Amino acid sequence: MILRKAKLSDVEDMLNLVNKYAETGLMLPRSRNTLYEHIRDFVVVEKDEQIVGTGALHIVWGDLAEIRALAVAPGYTKQGIGKQMVVYFLQEARELGIPKVFALTYQPDFFAKCGFVIVNKESMPQKVWKECINCPKFPNCDEICMEINLDLP
Ligand SMILES: CC(C)(COP(=O)(O)OP(=O)(O)OC[C@H]1O[C@@H](n2cnc3c(N)ncnc32)[C@H](O)[C@@H]1OP(=O)(O)O)[C@@H](O)C(=O)NCCC(=O)NCCS
Repeated sequence: MILRKAKLSDVEDMLNLVNKYAETGLMLPRSRNTLYEHIRDFVVVEKDEQIVGTGALHIVWGDLAEIRALAVAPGYTKQGIGKQMVVYFLQEARELGIPKVFALTYQPDFFAKCGFVIVNKESMPQKVWKECINCPKFPNCDEICMEINLDLP
């Protein structure tokens, strides 16, 4: 298994992965444009010569980043791949000096296993909601907000 930064040539595989889950309502759909624009936020996981995982760490503010678009291919879940991406992002956040990371998710048990706790959405700064206007569910967000505070040196 290889976890690495995403490349533009990965975008079609990443879209397939994320948007297959989006069709079932498990996560929000992403456009090709969004993936190109934010490609430096993304990692991919390669296994069996294919992309089996992807996800992004997006910086929101000087003290806050969000884990987004986390997806592990069906058939490869429950093998630790999702958690490895989260561990990677938390390390990246530490290196950038970001003390808090959050996720909006329908998978609270997975994020709890990664050390996140549920928080009130209203506790997040307004900037978090800037991109929600593009979400098909806006303004009726039913995702659960979870965060983790990191020990910074
Ligand atoms: C959620 C998702 C990313 C988890 O990835 P994964 O590779 O299966 O997770 P891991 O194998 O790393 O699991 C880590 C831990 O969480 C647990 N876990 C994983 N998914 C879980 C779930 N849906 N419910 C409860 N526990 C879960 C695992 O059992 C494991 O526990 P352990 O440490 O005690 O062994 C993956 O199931 C997925 O892509 N789901 C569909 C898309 C989605 O919902 N993405 C989240 C968007 S924010």
